[in-house]
Amino acid sequence: MFAFARGSPLSFGVRNTQSQDQKVQNEYYIASDPLAFSQWVEQMCHLSDNQILHICQGPDTDSYDLYDMSLSKIQVKLEQNSLSDQFVNKGSFAHFMLKEINEQPRAILDTLAHVMSLIDQRKESLDQFFNKARETQLNLIACGTSYHACLVAKYFFEKYARISTTAELASEFLYRSPVLKGNYCFVSQSGETRDTIAAHDMVSNQYQTMAIVNVPTSQLARKANIVLTTQAGPEIGVASTKAFTSQLVVYLALCMSQISDAQTKNSFKQQLTIAATTVGEYLQFHTTEIQQLAQHLSKYKSMTYLGRGASFPIALEGALKLKEICYIHAEGYAAGELKHGPIALIDEQMPVVVFVSEENLEKIMSNVQEVLARNGKCIVVLNSACRELFDESYSSKASRINSQMESPILDQLQKLSFLVTPKVGEVGDLFFQSVVLQMLAYYTALELGVDVDQPRNLAKCVTVE
Ligand code: G6P
Repeated sequence: MFAFARGSPLSFGVRNTQSQDQKVQNEYYIASDPLAFSQWVEQMCHLSDNQILHICQGPDTDSYDLYDMSLSKIQVKLEQNSLSDQFVNKGSFAHFMLKEINEQPRAILDTLAHVMSLIDQRKESLDQFFNKARETQLNLIACGTSYHACLVAKYFFEKYARISTTAELASEFLYRSPVLKGNYCFVSQSGETRDTIAAHDMVSNQYQTMAIVNVPTSQLARKANIVLTTQAGPEIGVASTKAFTSQLVVYLALCMSQISDAQTKNSFKQQLTIAATTVGEYLQFHTTEIQQLAQHLSKYKSMTYLGRGASFPIALEGALKLKEICYIHAEGYAAGELKHGPIALIDEQMPVVVFVSEENLEKIMSNVQEVLARNGKCIVVLNSACRELFDESYSSKASRINSQMESPILDQLQKLSFLVTPKVGEVGDLFFQSVVLQMLAYYTALELGVDVDQPRNLAKCVTVE
């Protein structure tokens, strides 16, 4: 058998077995993702581009050789399988996605501890990287859900670390002849997304690169100058969940390390810790109300997600999740843009999920009013402090709008529903909003009977353009 690596990941695994006549015979595995065979093999390696593996096995032969393009032999450098303990199953969960949603408390905590210690250990190189970025520009590049993490990061790097930051889709960056400047950070759960890797390769000769990946052995991790790994553990469900919140942790911790004001820095740290330690409790006690909303949402053909500031990318992510696993058309919009077009779509057939941040409560609440005034239905995701303020300012209107607001189960979606999260702050609230959008999509998909872990037409890792 020949295996030829070019452009896409290819891993090779070896298992030593003994046949009945005590003859040692190897079993060989080839896959684009080593997790596919990690439970069986003792040793593995990753093939580099343009390497050819020749496996030869028969009654009298059992060998493998590696060649370059000119067919000169290269030494095969097998490493001990470090992924053997990462054999993953669903445990008691119905789907990998649900398991991964519920693993977030652990993933967030582990990633926070890991990145904080890396920030200490690699202070010099990280400061160097960000100082350079501060002089010119910090560029964050990714695809899909990872791109949404970049958009959140851009907001915080600019607002608090005062570093000029761009967030860009790798597929656009590659082909629009960008003016290159500053430092580049590439984010990818798999570390194998073709567009992200190609974007990395486009700048890596001239510019310093950082990678934030969940798979430490991935191509991107092997290529970048500075590598930070999220500690989410293997993510199997096609729709990314725990990897996203772990990417947020890395970004927010990095941003925190670049904030000069001690009080703001401290508040960042506190909020990250509180979110990490309380998001599990939220998941435990709020599933039922989200499930009830999902029952209603599954009956709609189209939905809008709104957010402002750092919650705008959360709205984009909410819409993406709904498209990915529910096959319901959904758009994420910056709430301020509502009046520039999407408002024309609002009617009783278009539920609107609104992510509220305390910083712009008043503005986003007026968006809620605009939706309700046009017979739209709103699901407002807000923290407990915002909920109280909402009651003070709008309670009479709200009860007029929705006299049945407090009754939990109705046969149709109420005009106004609330999902209340704990009040942590601008940084911490994002984690609860993320969990809410994931659970809304998951339970809606469940209602619709979609194969949540393997939705149609999608791949976990996109290794083609
Ligand atoms: C695919 C997956 C998405 C993921 C995107 C980027 O489209 O289905 O869930 O967000 O790739 O993947 P990456 O591994 O680069 O984060």
